[in-house]
Amino acid sequence: MAQFESLWTIPIILVFVSIGSCIACGRAEYRIGDECCPMCSPGLGLKVKQPCTPSSDTVCGTLEGFYCLDPTKEGCRAAQRHSSCKPGQYISHTGTISTDTVCSDCTGDTYSNGSFTSCQPHTQCDTLKLQQIKSGTHWSDSECGPQISPIATLIFAVVVGVLAVIAAVTTAAIMKRRRKKHRRSFNS
Ligand SMILES: *[C@@H]1O[C@H](CO)[C@@H](O)[C@H](O)[C@H]1NC(C)=O
Repeated sequence: MAQFESLWTIPIILVFVSIGSCIACGRAEYRIGDECCPMCSPGLGLKVKQPCTPSSDTVCGTLEGFYCLDPTKEGCRAAQRHSSCKPGQYISHTGTISTDTVCSDCTGDTYSNGSFTSCQPHTQCDTLKLQQIKSGTHWSDSECGPQISPIATLIFAVVVGVLAVIAAVTTAAIMKRRRKKHRRSFNS
């Protein structure tokens, strides 16, 4: 009788073992061989740093551009993307795997589009012998254009002045002649 029982036990154990290895891992788990390992939380900037072993769980690490919100002894349970700086701000501390980016405002005659690590001084158009078309802001550089030479400006002013004088004199002469004609016809 004892022999008969043990004869049945082996296939029953085999059936249970094979059922066990066929059962799918949980939704937040993945399979390595016969092991179900916890996944690194999806969509949170984590990657597998150390796959699980029969004696240890998966170790997750932060992805490039993320910092850890919930550090563990060896890895990280939750991560968040580094903040980006706004135009008018510069990156005063680049984000690391454990700290977020720190942004600071530009001051004075400097600008940054939000991705610089320091504010850049505005281009001084006059030192480039150019004319400023647009003045700089904290988020954009100044814009320079070709310099109009002072002599060209002077010639233009003189020509406009002379034309204005000629126009005025001509108008006055025409008016005078008209008035004279009118008076003559009135006298006769
Ligand atoms: C800022 O300027 C740099 C270089 O001029 C450019 O590569 C980058 O894409 C700009 N960033 C933004 C956020 O506009």
